[in-house]
Amino acid sequence: MKYGFFDDNNKEYVITTPKTPLPWINYLGCKDFFTLLSNTCGGYTFYKDAKLLRMTRYRYNDTTPDTNGKYFYIKDGDTIWNPGWQPTKTELDSYECRHGIGYSKFTGVKNDIEAALVTFVPFDDPVELTKVTLTNKGNTKKDITLFSYVEWCLWNADDDMKNYQRNLSIGEVEVIDSTIYHKTEYRERRNHYAVYSVNAKIDGFETSRDEFRGAYNGPDKPAAVIEGKLHNTIASGWYPIASHQLNVSLNPGESKTFVFALGYVENAEDDKWEKPGVINKKKATALLSKYQTTEDFDKAFAALNAYWNDLLSKFHIESKDEHVNRMVNIWNQYQCMVTFNMSRSASYYETGIGRGMGFRDSCQDLLGFVHLIPDRARERIIDIASTQFQDGSAYHQYQPLTKKGNSDIGSGFNDDPLWLIAGTSAYIRETGDTSILNETVPYDNDMSVATSLMEHLKRSFDYIVNHKGPHDLPLIGRADWNDCLNLNCFSEHPGESFQCFGPSEGPVAESVFIAGMFVKYGREYADLCKLMGDNAEADRALAEVDKMIKAIEKDGWDGEWFVRAYDAYSHKVGSKECDEGQIYIEPQGMCVMAGVGVEDGNAKKALDSVKEKLDTKYGVMILQPAYTRYHLELGEITSYPPGYKENAGIFCHNNPWISIAETCIGRGDRAFEVYKKTCPSYIEDISEIHRTEPYVYSQMVAGADAKFHGEAKNSWLTGTAAWTFTNISQYILGIYPTLEGLSVNPCTPAEFGDFNVTRVYRGVTYNIEIKNPNKVQKGVASLLVDGKEIEGNIIPFDGSKKTVNVVATMK
Ligand code: BGC
Ligand code: NOJ
Repeated sequence: MKYGFFDDNNKEYVITTPKTPLPWINYLGCKDFFTLLSNTCGGYTFYKDAKLLRMTRYRYNDTTPDTNGKYFYIKDGDTIWNPGWQPTKTELDSYECRHGIGYSKFTGVKNDIEAALVTFVPFDDPVELTKVTLTNKGNTKKDITLFSYVEWCLWNADDDMKNYQRNLSIGEVEVIDSTIYHKTEYRERRNHYAVYSVNAKIDGFETSRDEFRGAYNGPDKPAAVIEGKLHNTIASGWYPIASHQLNVSLNPGESKTFVFALGYVENAEDDKWEKPGVINKKKATALLSKYQTTEDFDKAFAALNAYWNDLLSKFHIESKDEHVNRMVNIWNQYQCMVTFNMSRSASYYETGIGRGMGFRDSCQDLLGFVHLIPDRARERIIDIASTQFQDGSAYHQYQPLTKKGNSDIGSGFNDDPLWLIAGTSAYIRETGDTSILNETVPYDNDMSVATSLMEHLKRSFDYIVNHKGPHDLPLIGRADWNDCLNLNCFSEHPGESFQCFGPSEGPVAESVFIAGMFVKYGREYADLCKLMGDNAEADRALAEVDKMIKAIEKDGWDGEWFVRAYDAYSHKVGSKECDEGQIYIEPQGMCVMAGVGVEDGNAKKALDSVKEKLDTKYGVMILQPAYTRYHLELGEITSYPPGYKENAGIFCHNNPWISIAETCIGRGDRAFEVYKKTCPSYIEDISEIHRTEPYVYSQMVAGADAKFHGEAKNSWLTGTAAWTFTNISQYILGIYPTLEGLSVNPCTPAEFGDFNVTRVYRGVTYNIEIKNPNKVQKGVASLLVDGKEIEGNIIPFDGSKKTVNVVATMK
């Protein structure tokens, strides 16, 4: 069942009922200022950091899900309704929500009044703009009232939820003409404030939530709206809100349009006050004056659309498969940009007050957006590397506002260092910009111990070399990619074990997954060394890689698949010797991607085992058999009920690893089969089972052991976005950026047919035509570059050209 449809021409998903199985959201904002917005107008806004600079309040774990948002109420006689249905839930005569790229549109119709909202954040300004157009579709004159509504958050969203004894006394607002100022804490710790304004003379305002709603009413029955009149209260403490009242008369066929602006303003410390006690509002005035008319709005909206169209055109495919076209050209790249901005901080499943930017997460996200915004990728790499420790290990997370490592979580995830190599290598392969390697980058933000980025990579590499266990495999530490595989926990307190990490842990448990990573990214490190002319270091690195391959072959192979790990007692994890958790997906994907077992046939065996033991119709599960009881020696992974999350869920993030691994052994049919199973567009028509948004990936789909097999959870902020884009663009379609130039080597299903890709690479546009006359799955027989046949798969980069025309004919 579907709840809408894709409108590819407009790059929108059109939701045709507000009653989707879960809130289906969109993200507004390209840099610094962001809004999460659901299909019923729920959501919240923040500046830079969802925890520290939260502008509007969202209500977690509420009894009706998704309460609080940017609401507009319309009072038409006794009927009160919202164009996005919530919060009154008055049945609409018609409803539509179009989530587009960086904007959303809502159209609600009730009793002959149509309310159309368009909302977005302009590229350069910290402001969310909403154009509200009210139209009388009937034959008689209508006198209606429009009310806006947002509830302010008192900035630190964490404290806002907990520190009532203080917070209920600190709220401060001010109203000048049609602008409501939220200035809580400005008098002491802040130099910023928020504004909510409309480009018309208002007929009233409200800034006190209790006055607006009535102390015992919910947002569905706001007393002032029912009364039809706001009371112009200036809130003092309690719960400050912003609401405007506009009385609107509409003749038959007449429309009226208003532009609302919700903005963030930051003053320089020495420019805080206009005169003692009076906030300097110069910047607010300047910001709002830019968006006073419908024309201003439309111009900024057109500029945003142009920005996105240009960005998304950097990789464009035309094939006969509409799902691939749609996901590659629009939604997958868009999701990659959202993960760039959000990492794992703010979604409807990440509260914005827990995790900030993840070290491994953001390094992997980079793989999906580096071709879109290379300059910002460069900055991101430096930010991430600045949180690394001198021994090569790293803070697991950092706050986006401060860019400082989060010491509550600390370090000890032993895969983290290698992801820095992965991200940096992807950046250099994409851009050719080796100057980044010479940048001076601090450790733990301490400039006095800074070194070159290249030295950071060396320390990442050496962290693994210097932390090996009894089988010469890398120590896992607190966990590797699988956060829940906590093999060094000895807590006496059941339920606490996966929180019991400490620096003394990690002497014995080892990870075959990190070993695979070391082979893959160790080689990429060696390539960078060679590129920088350090052949001795490259040779040393490759010798270490060879040793690791031997260790995997000796103790990381289980006969039919790769072992997952060794626990702290040196027992195998992910082996046929185990009762449960006999086979895990991660080492199969990573080791084969690294090339381990490709020549001796073990790769094929491992991938056949994956198909036989882990496959389901909804995707490939992370492990089997699921753990049915809690194992202290394995940690959080066994705390989940069978079939969910890391305990045998379909963890979408590593499905593309299997798909990529399949391309490494040339099986395009199977690679594509794996790709399709979790691909949102392919499964749109089972939205009632899948439940999350059909235009983006979710972190997990419940596995075969789960009660709700096929149900997805935790949409949007997942490494799945970057890895699926890497998979489809670089491995299945086969356009892979190397240090020397673009490589063209597709691995598609036999029936995929011919296709064309436009790829902007280092400023040059490549028009690539791929022909597959003999319906093979892999292999390029001839590669014509601007009419000349070249040897091999790599088109040497030539920056003097603007366009390169390529014709690849498969064998
Ligand atoms: C989840 C993991 C996640 C981790 C983050 C765990 O509860 O299962 O998927 O990576 O929390 O701390
Ligand atoms: C989600 C986390 O963000 C990611 O870092 C981790 O690799 C996966 N969960 C698997 O545990």
